Amino acid sequence: MRDAAPTTIYLKDYTPFAYLIDEVSLTFRLDPEKTRVLSRIAFRPNPDATDRRFFLHGEDLTLISAKIDGKDIETRTVDGGIEADAPDAPFIWEAEVEIAPASNTALEGLYMSNGMYCTQCEAEGFRKITYYPDRPDVMAPFHVRIEGTEPVLLSNGNPGTSGAGFAEWHDPWKKPAYLFALVAGDLVNHPDTFTTKSGRKVDLNIWVRPGDEGKCAFGMQALKDSMKWDEDVYGREYDLDLFNIVAVDDFNMGAMENKGLNIFNSSCVLASPETSTDANFERVEAIIAHEYFHNWTGNRITCRDWFQLCLKEGLTVFRDSQFTADIRSAEVKRITDVIDLRARQFPEDQGPLSHPVRPESFQEINNFYTATVYEKGAELIRMLKTLVGDDAYKRALDLYFDRHDGDAATIEDWLKVFEDATGRDLTQFARWYSQSGTPRVTVREAFEGDTLTLHISQMTPPTPGQDEKDPRVIPIAVGLLNPNGDEVMETQILELTEAEQSFSFPGHATRPIPSVLRGFSAPVVLEQDIDNARRAFLLAHDTDAFNRWESGRMLARDALLRMILEDAAPDAAYLEALTTLMRDETLDPAYRALMLGQPTQSELVGLLHEQGHTPDPQAIHDASEALRDAKAQALADLLPGLYANNQVDGPFSPDADAAGKRTLANAALSLLTRLDGGTAAANQYAMADNMTLQLAALSALLDAGKGEEQLAAFEKQWSHDRLVMDKWFGLQIMQAAPKDTAATAARLTDHPDFSMKNPNRFRAVFGALAMSHAGFHHESGAAYTLLADWLIRLDPLNPQTTARMCSAFQTWRRYDADRQAAIKTELERILATPNLSRDTNEMVSRILGA
Ligand code: BES
Ligand code: ZN
Repeated sequence: MRDAAPTTIYLKDYTPFAYLIDEVSLTFRLDPEKTRVLSRIAFRPNPDATDRRFFLHGEDLTLISAKIDGKDIETRTVDGGIEADAPDAPFIWEAEVEIAPASNTALEGLYMSNGMYCTQCEAEGFRKITYYPDRPDVMAPFHVRIEGTEPVLLSNGNPGTSGAGFAEWHDPWKKPAYLFALVAGDLVNHPDTFTTKSGRKVDLNIWVRPGDEGKCAFGMQALKDSMKWDEDVYGREYDLDLFNIVAVDDFNMGAMENKGLNIFNSSCVLASPETSTDANFERVEAIIAHEYFHNWTGNRITCRDWFQLCLKEGLTVFRDSQFTADIRSAEVKRITDVIDLRARQFPEDQGPLSHPVRPESFQEINNFYTATVYEKGAELIRMLKTLVGDDAYKRALDLYFDRHDGDAATIEDWLKVFEDATGRDLTQFARWYSQSGTPRVTVREAFEGDTLTLHISQMTPPTPGQDEKDPRVIPIAVGLLNPNGDEVMETQILELTEAEQSFSFPGHATRPIPSVLRGFSAPVVLEQDIDNARRAFLLAHDTDAFNRWESGRMLARDALLRMILEDAAPDAAYLEALTTLMRDETLDPAYRALMLGQPTQSELVGLLHEQGHTPDPQAIHDASEALRDAKAQALADLLPGLYANNQVDGPFSPDADAAGKRTLANAALSLLTRLDGGTAAANQYAMADNMTLQLAALSALLDAGKGEEQLAAFEKQWSHDRLVMDKWFGLQIMQAAPKDTAATAARLTDHPDFSMKNPNRFRAVFGALAMSHAGFHHESGAAYTLLADWLIRLDPLNPQTTARMCSAFQTWRRYDADRQAAIKTELERILATPNLSRDTNEMVSRILGA
C-alpha cells in the first residue's frame, strides 16, 4: 500500500543506527503460505549513535511474538516497521513472524519460483523476511537454520549440521542484511573446485533445476577465471570454503552477490551453444565476474547507506569491464561499452530522470539502480585511474582494501584513499559524483608558426534541481598525426580543469591533425568542428582503435542527418571508406562488424532534438533502412566473401575470436539478405547447429519480411525452453514493421506462454516494444497505450519491474506536440491508478515533472 504522501529520504539526514549487532540467528520453517521465521539477535548500544530509538524495519509481516531478554514485550507499529522500548545495554531480541512466500509476486524478500524458495534482499527486501534494522551499515555474522522437506537447503557462508528436513549454515563474515540469501528446492548441482593462491581449496557449485545441468559448464569456467583474475590483478582471494551460484527463472534483475550464495536470473548463468548466442555467453561471463568481484567490492567493503551505491556498483562494473577487456578484446569492449553508455546513460542524464552518480535524495531506492550509478559510476573510476596513473591506482586500491575491510564506507572514504596514496587533491574530481548532466566539451584548433593550440571549453546544461554547474576536471586523451597519417605525438592526457583552457603543442613544421578524446577518456559529448575529409582521414589512419571507429560513426551520423533533414542520398565518401575497411583483412572481425554498425534511431532523435529539429520517427527509420540498403549495394561484391570467409569450422566455441567471426558473418548476412531475397539466410537457418547462427538467420529473414515458416518451426523446436522462447517473443516485435509493432506485441500477450509474472517474459515483449523505436513511437500512439495498460496491470504484482520499464517514456519531451500529448496522457493515466506503488509513482512523477 502506498503512503498518502511518499516520503523522500536525504543523504544529508544520515545518522548511525542506535545499536550494533553482535550476532544474528535465524530459523526458517518453510511453508508456501505460512513460513515461520524465528530471529534471535544480540544488540548492544552503538557508542557512535546519538539517539537510542529502537526501530526495526518490517513490511508485510505477521508478528507472532516479540521478546527482549526472554520477556514478552509490547511493540508499537510505526511507518515502515515497529518500535519498542529497549535497554541502554546489551540485550537479546527474539521474534517470530509469519510470511507467505507463495503469494509474493514482487520477487523481493522470500518468494517462490517454480516451486523453489529463494530470496532477493537488496536493497530493502530483508524487512519482508523479519523485523530488522535493514540498512547496509548494520553488519553482523549470521547463523541460519532451514527446516523444510526440499532436498537442497542453502544459505550464506559455510555449511554446518544437516540432516533429514533441516540444514544449518554459518557465515563468519559480518554482513548487512541485504546480502542474506536462502534457497530451498529440488536442485541439481554442477560441482567443481578452485584452489586459491594461498592454497585454500574452495568448493564451487552451480545449482539448477533438473534438466539444466548441461548449461552450467561455461558459467563454471567463467567463475574460475574470475577468481583467478581477481587474485592476479587486484590481489584478492576468496574467503570461504564454498561458493554457490543458484539459477532462478523468476528474478527482477540479472543477478545478486549474496555472500557465498549468488542468485542468478537463469538467463544470466545458463548457457549452451544450442540455446545461447555469443552475446549471451559474453553476458554470462561478465555477470558471473561482476557478482564474484562484489565479494570484495560490495561485501567485504560495503556501502554506509544506499546513496553510496556507486561505491560498490560503479567500481564493480569497472572491474568486470577490465576483466572482459583482458580476456577478450580491449578495443571491442571499450567501443561496446561506449555504445551502451550513449544508448542508456546519456538519455537518462539529459532528460527528466537525470541524477548525480551519488544521488542526494530518493523515494524508492530500487529506482536508483540506474545507468548513471552503474555505467557513469564506472566511467568515473576509469577517469580516476587515467588521472592518477596505473601504479597509483593500484596503490590506492590496496589502501582501500586495507583500510576499509569490514567497513560500510562512503564515496568520501573512496576518494580519500586516492588522495592519501597519491597526494593529489580530489576536491574538484568529487564534483563528478555530485553534479548530474553530461558535460559538453568543445574543441577549437589554431596553428601558428610551428605550434598547434587546442582551445577547449566545457559546459554542462542544466538538469533537474541543478541549474548551475562548476567546471569539472576532465581527462582528455589526445594524440597527433601528421598529414601522412603517421603519429607524431603519442597519446597524452590533457587535464581540463577550467571552463576554458588552451593547450599548445609546439615543434610541428606542418600542421598536425589531433585525435581528441581517445579511448573515450571521459563521459562527455565532444563538439569539434571538423569536416568529413578529416573524419575520413582519421578513419583511415588513427592509431587509436576507439577514435578510428568513432570517426566512422561520425561519418555515418552525418550521412544519416543529411538523409533525414535534406533528403540527401547516402554519402558516397562514407560508403567508399567503409568498403576500404571491409577489405582490410588485418582488422579483427569483431572490430569490422562494429564498423558496419550505425547510430541507433534513438541516438539520432537525441541529436536532432538538440539541434532544434523535431524528430520524425518514421523518417528516421526510413533513413536508417535506406543507409543499410546503400551499404548492401556498396558492399555487394564483398559481402559473399565476408560471409564465407568468416564461417567458423569445428565444434562451437564461445571464445572472442570465433564469436567475432560469427558477428561479422552475421552482419554480412543481414546486408546480403537485402540483395538475395533471403536465400543465404534461409540456408543458414536450415543448417544452423547453434543459436547464434539460428537466431541471426531468423532475424535477417524477418527483417526482409520473410521467415514465417522458420518462425513457426522455431516455436515448435523450442517451446520447452523458456529462455529461447524469450528470444522468440522479442524478435518478432523487433522485426515487425513500425505500423505493426504494437499489434504484434498485443497479439503475443495472448499467446499461452505469455505471463506477466515472469519478468524475463514481460521484458521480452515490452522491452522489445520500447526498443523498437519507430514502432514504439508510431503516430497511432497504440504502443504507448499498450505499454501503459500493461504497466498498470503489472504494478500491483511487481512494482520494481514496472517502475524500471517506465523509463521507456523518459525521452518524451524530444518528440512533436502530438506525441508528447499522447505520452503525457498515458503517464497521467498511470499516475492516477489507485494504490499505485511507491516505485512507479516516483518514476512517473519524475518523468512528468521536469
Ligand atoms: N547488486 C546487484 C543486483 C541488484 C540490483 C539487486 C538492484 C537488487 C536491486 C548486482 O550486483 C548487479 O549489479 N547486477 C546487474 C548486472 C551487472 C552485470 C551490472 C543486474 O542485475 O542487472
Ligand atoms: Zn553489482
